[in-house]
Amino acid sequence: MSAEYIFPHRHILGLAEMADVDIDFILKTAESFKEISQRSIKKVPTLRGKTVINLFLEPSTRTRLSFEVAAKRMSADTFNISGAGSSAAKGETMVDTARNLAAMNPDCIIIRHSCSGSPGLLARHIPAPVINAGDGTHEHPSQALLDLMTVREHKGRLAGLKVAIIGDITHSRVAHSNIIGFSRMGARVRVAGPATLMPPGIAAMGAECCSSVQEAVSGADVVMALRVQKERQRDPLLPSLREYAIFYGITPEVMAHARPDAIIMHPGPINRGVELDPALADGPHSVILDQVTNGVAVRMALLYLIMGGE
Ligand code: CP
Repeated sequence: MSAEYIFPHRHILGLAEMADVDIDFILKTAESFKEISQRSIKKVPTLRGKTVINLFLEPSTRTRLSFEVAAKRMSADTFNISGAGSSAAKGETMVDTARNLAAMNPDCIIIRHSCSGSPGLLARHIPAPVINAGDGTHEHPSQALLDLMTVREHKGRLAGLKVAIIGDITHSRVAHSNIIGFSRMGARVRVAGPATLMPPGIAAMGAECCSSVQEAVSGADVVMALRVQKERQRDPLLPSLREYAIFYGITPEVMAHARPDAIIMHPGPINRGVELDPALADGPHSVILDQVTNGVAVRMALLYLIMGGE
């Protein structure tokens, strides 16, 4: 990377708009911030005096808390708004809500929304930087960045790795960001899932579509299971979750097709026994809680890069 490299993004809307050098720079920044969370006093003054608003209009456990922990560890002031407790419940539009929040002069608004493209819309209407914390079926950039960081930590590299992503590819913003991110960093991505949950044009996104989970997992260094996103499916797209578990669940038998040192990932929340066998979720190859740990470091890096600081 050139010594003059300057992070060029004002907003974090998706990995589609990021070059490999941008992703690498975020990961290196996150790697340098990780040790702050291992100190006995887990706080640095880097973002002292900055204001971060978490506008989460869809449920979240990991992402919302992780952004809040990240901001607080850098001494920013954080404020949380959810859909149920806000005037969105009275019919206020998202842009009106955000304009009112922007009038309080925050330094960053982090948004999760069920509608794809909402963070981009917001970024066009408010002066503050916007971070996409997951929008509909579009992208979940901070999740993919923490996944890339976790794989690089465990495998020492990203280029040349074989990554299998299994499940509801159509409705998974995690899958979309990860396909872009892993491909951009030189990994080979294979996907498998029910035909009803496989979007058209998957090859154009950079992934190879396999006809079975065994084929996708064959020789893989990384196996990522996805939750079936029932909340985004209007019509029934699966006969039953039991059938899904039989044909697409990641089990020890499926993992026998992967490399012996393959790691198992899941963005959470897990439906144990559906997309992932509980013994694997809690087993020695699982890096699922490392993903959560790295999420704080990645979000510290994102906040730092778009808000600056001391
Ligand atoms: N991975 C993820 O986005 O989890 P949450 O929905 O709990 O934020």
